Amino acid sequence: MAFYEVYSHPAVIRYRTSVCTKATLFLVIVLCLTYIPPLLVAFRSQGFWLKQSSYEEQPVVRFQYQTLMVAATSTQGDYVAWSTFPHLNNMLGPSLRIPAVSVREEDLNQDGKLDLLTLQLQLPLRNTEEVYSVQLLLTFSYQLFRMSTVVMQSLAFVQLASPVPGARLFLSGELRLQQRTPLPHRGLYSIYNVSVVDGSSPFASAYDLENIVRSYQARNLTTVLSCPMPVWTVGRAAGSPFELNVEIRYPVEVIAYRPGFWETIKFAWIQTRSSRRFPSQRGSLTCCDPAAKPPGSGPAGPAAAESTAEVLIRLSDRPAVRASGSAEQAEEAMSADRNWFRQL
Ligand SMILES: *[C@@H]1O[C@H](CO)[C@@H](O)[C@H](O)[C@H]1NC(C)=O
Ligand SMILES: *[C@@H]1O[C@H](CO)[C@@H](O)[C@H](O)[C@H]1NC(C)=O
Repeated sequence: MAFYEVYSHPAVIRYRTSVCTKATLFLVIVLCLTYIPPLLVAFRSQGFWLKQSSYEEQPVVRFQYQTLMVAATSTQGDYVAWSTFPHLNNMLGPSLRIPAVSVREEDLNQDGKLDLLTLQLQLPLRNTEEVYSVQLLLTFSYQLFRMSTVVMQSLAFVQLASPVPGARLFLSGELRLQQRTPLPHRGLYSIYNVSVVDGSSPFASAYDLENIVRSYQARNLTTVLSCPMPVWTVGRAAGSPFELNVEIRYPVEVIAYRPGFWETIKFAWIQTRSSRRFPSQRGSLTCCDPAAKPPGSGPAGPAAAESTAEVLIRLSDRPAVRASGSAEQAEEAMSADRNWFRQL
């Protein structure tokens, strides 16, 4: 019948000594060597206190249906424009040109968060007009929830100019988050929950693209439209509108944040623990000091040291109880063990 191990336990050997001995001093030195160098290594090797960390999250983005578009129709400074701001449209006068617009936002992977905005805009033009450049501004509401709750209003701005008049412009890009400082790890962060364009203002300066971009770029948290490959198509047929097709994706972002107190402590703790290598060998070293044994508790002097050392060697040399041996053999070996410990 085959034997298998059902239970095992280590035997503990205790060495006692009084406080003012070389053994105690040695133990203290060993303890210091065990704890202090690893702490120094962990502390001096940078990144002991975690300053910044990051996580991934797909933002909740909604197009706010606010649009401002300016198209240069000649190289002499003529332009047509259109916006969703009534005050601006009133100020535009004859330059106002109402396009046909269709907007669609889609949740492609059905996870409850929108992934793609498709905007199609057809700008009617007179036969004498050509489009040389396009400026387009769209506003979004942008929200993050995983660590701190971030609520902000942001924009996407794109501008493209060509020396050759175009018939169509195709833009396909991503709305990327730009952080100047890490976000807090919790709480509500809504200082940028303010309109990017003040649509209630009757003054032209509120709709000046330069002013809008300047105050927007002063923020620590912004979104930018990353569109590396705009496609400008030339050759517009007479009487047909200028077409603007825009696709904007809302990708998963890697967001930097400042870790909280407990996360910082956790990482410092992990580093200290992982650089400490030999924590359990100190006990067996104290037996080197023959004076360690208090008087009366056994043979004193060099003889005691010898016998202790001898027992250690005998313990380590003793063949282990074989699992294949009989129960009687195992019992014998166990009683021999007990006798050894009694001698000690
Ligand atoms: C953000 O602003 C919008 C509109 O101004 C408002 O409805 C909303 O309650 C604000 N959210 C927070 C968290 O301040
Ligand atoms: C923006 O970041 C700078 C540091 O880069 C900081 O001093 C300033 O307080 C931040 N502003 C806001 C409104 O958080």
